[in-house]
Amino acid sequence: MIIEIKNLVKRYDELTALNHLNLVVEKGEILGLLGPNGSGKSTSINCMLSLLSYDKGEINLFGQPMRPDQYEIKRKIGVVPQEIAVFDELTVRENINYFCGLYIQDSALCKKYVEEAIQLVGLEDFTKFVPSKLSGGLKRRLNIACGIAHKPELIFLDEPTVAVDPQSRNKILESIRQLNQQGATIVYTTHYMEEVELLCNRIVIIDQGQVIAEGTKESLKQMIGTNEKLVIEVPMLPANAQQELNQIAGVADIFYDQINLTISTTKLKETLIATLDFFAKNDLHYGAIHTQEITLNDVFLEITGKELRD
Ligand SMILES: Nc1ncnc2c1ncn2[C@@H]1O[C@H](COP(=O)(O)OP(=O)(O)OP(=O)(O)O)[C@@H](O)[C@H]1O
Ligand SMILES: [Mg+2]
Repeated sequence: MIIEIKNLVKRYDELTALNHLNLVVEKGEILGLLGPNGSGKSTSINCMLSLLSYDKGEINLFGQPMRPDQYEIKRKIGVVPQEIAVFDELTVRENINYFCGLYIQDSALCKKYVEEAIQLVGLEDFTKFVPSKLSGGLKRRLNIACGIAHKPELIFLDEPTVAVDPQSRNKILESIRQLNQQGATIVYTTHYMEEVELLCNRIVIIDQGQVIAEGTKESLKQMIGTNEKLVIEVPMLPANAQQELNQIAGVADIFYDQINLTISTTKLKETLIATLDFFAKNDLHYGAIHTQEITLNDVFLEITGKELRD
């Protein structure tokens, strides 16, 4: 176990940001910590790093209790904070060199690591730029390079793709995959569920400072009992229709927003046939038909009654 958190409680005055949070991260994982704004993702990371004190609970990293003076543990960790934290007056290469040099004393080795970090995030053409000359996406990449250049065994990335263009986003996701392939264990926080689905072996969903679900993306989707949705454009649906359609074998949930009828079902084909049959018998008009896969947002919605992305 690389990370073990037991019953962590963190209060900011009246507000309970972490409410008996439990979390385990195994070596080699890319763990996705998924939760809406304010759910406690950054707070939990800052507690793990001993940057924040907490009220109750236990945090073990690399099998040892984490404390502010655990420098041996800290050097094995890389942090990419949510807010970009680089020096405005230093160039890209100087910034990465500074952060790497905090951990790597051998200057030749440090130099080598800096070049590797530059390559990893694809900043080769910008090494002499100061941060203010970089686009938002490139600045994010610099932030990542600064956090990981010293080749840490455990890396925390706190929403590294917020407000990033698609090209930089892809580069960032690819870099994280590569770091993992090189052996790093990764904790990745985000509220973009597509990223988590693409990147993570295991997902922990948190809300209001508590773990509300965890598993692989497949197991999380299985939790809600359906695997596909049928979406049919229906201009007018009589009030009793929803009840009747609910009787169809396999149908788990029906939602109508006056434009689209969305049916969650375990038996897509049978549901489609029976639904169209119902429409024909009742002389109901319909338009385009398509299917959708269940997303992690559906899982979150089912558990909390809220949308993950607001
Ligand atoms: N320094 C602070 N003082 C008081 N309250 C705080 C402080 N930092 C965070 N909070 C509150 O604690 C809760 C958890 O915040 P946190 O930043 O950990 O959430 P998050 O999941 O990282 O959110 P986001 O996705 O917006 O980054 C929120 O309600 C937030 O307003
Ligand atoms: Mg945060």
